[in-house]
Amino acid sequence: MKKFIFFLLAASINHVALAQDSKIDSSKYPPFKIFTAQQDQENMMQQLGIKVLRPGPSGNPSAPDHANYDTTKADPCPQIPDILTAKNGKKITTADMWWKVRRPEIIEDYEREVYGRIPHNVPKVTWTVKVVDREFIFPGFIPVVAKQIVGHVDNREYPLINVDIKMILVVPMNVKGPVPVLMMFGFPSFPSPAQPSADDMETLNTTFKDVMIKTNPAVKNIFDKYPAYSPITKSSINFFAPPPVGDAPPTGQLLAAGWGYLTIDPTSIQADNGAGLTVGIIGLVNKGQPRKPDDWGALRAWSWGAARALDYLETDSLVDAKKVGIEGVSRYGKAALVTLAFEPRFAVGLIGSSGKGGATLLRRNFGEAVESLTGGEYYWMAGNFLKYGASEASFGSKTGCDLPVDSHELIALCAPRLTFFSYGVPEKGDANWLDHRGSYMATIAAGTVFKLLGAKDLGVSNDYMKEKMPPVNTGLLDGQLAWRQHDGGHTDAPNFKYFIPWATRFLNYEKKPAQ
Ligand code: GCU
Repeated sequence: MKKFIFFLLAASINHVALAQDSKIDSSKYPPFKIFTAQQDQENMMQQLGIKVLRPGPSGNPSAPDHANYDTTKADPCPQIPDILTAKNGKKITTADMWWKVRRPEIIEDYEREVYGRIPHNVPKVTWTVKVVDREFIFPGFIPVVAKQIVGHVDNREYPLINVDIKMILVVPMNVKGPVPVLMMFGFPSFPSPAQPSADDMETLNTTFKDVMIKTNPAVKNIFDKYPAYSPITKSSINFFAPPPVGDAPPTGQLLAAGWGYLTIDPTSIQADNGAGLTVGIIGLVNKGQPRKPDDWGALRAWSWGAARALDYLETDSLVDAKKVGIEGVSRYGKAALVTLAFEPRFAVGLIGSSGKGGATLLRRNFGEAVESLTGGEYYWMAGNFLKYGASEASFGSKTGCDLPVDSHELIALCAPRLTFFSYGVPEKGDANWLDHRGSYMATIAAGTVFKLLGAKDLGVSNDYMKEKMPPVNTGLLDGQLAWRQHDGGHTDAPNFKYFIPWATRFLNYEKKPAQ
């Protein structure tokens, strides 16, 4: 008798779709491992010969093991790696040397030790437009086309795991296309689904009443008592709503500026937890088995999904695929930076409050630590990254100071493309945990590469130890590398009204009315 597959959806691997085709003969495939995050992390520690990891600091400033917030102790490592010195000691003095020698060296170190490698055999993604909806967006009454698009990853080699990447593209139709698009890590929904006309509503209500009466004839009396009652109603849209106080939402600002946007669901690519590493796209490629030390982590998997979404955009005639940006906040700010760094087809990035594992120098000891990224957050990173949090291991011990690379080099991988760093302020919730100064230092140090490649950096010196941070609400927006700390919280929304004109100008995009 054939064995059929049953699915135990452990709560911890939520959001990750497992194959639901009950016709699959599971006995043909080795089952995928069901690990807790702790079991998965221990498996990786064993592979690396790690016995003990240093615990990460607490984010609570009154806890005894709280993170360091003493600026005099924030820079424990002697120096950050010299961005313009090759491994053989030669100085990188030309753009050509950067592209041919130094950039590949940095990529190799980052892939092996920090974020992991994308395997060579990742199966193909097939994109299907499921729904095309013509909508109007308020305020502004902007006509748009909204497309719900699903990317199915070929899983014929291992049908026990199913990955369907979910996204929604929204493009303004009142401007001449193709338009630039900002891809955002987030949770896709139709902005303003079109609603049936009055006649269609009447048909829906008559049919609905008939079906109900057929199911339960007693209901007829109720409908007869309230003859004008319609059980199905439109959702309320107030055409005469006063303009909202403050700025329009970021998506509204993009559409008003003639940009489209695309929201992509990162958890439809890879779960945001360690237990999910044997499923999702990482698990599918590994046929349900645990990772090897240089395999990709969740951040790299999310960025892979974004690059596949860009493959789709290249086929959509409404979109100018040469003018596509990537955006995210917090963990998705890290993912946006990783995407921009590794995928040169993205023209621009808005990197929101990315902190450690994003723009902040890994070597800094201020707020979130390397030990946080090797602790509960280990699954964002390559397995090899655990080595830098090890206090007892076959190789002794290592700290962040031993890392071959640091985030000024990650930022430099984006050069000379448009790269905007956004932060808020701790008083409003963009916590000190993020180490704003550590990100500023990395951005300053990355500037030398932007200049080497003929672009403009922040416009201050590249002395990352000496340069003072600009005041809050003062943008450094004159170059391809940009910085602005707004006076709000853990969001990049207040910076959109600076980001959009900056990106529009550097991309040479001119919004024109549709013909
Ligand atoms: C935690 C984590 C950060 C992360 C943030 C988030 O604070 O330590 O690295 O950016 O969560 O994504 O919300």
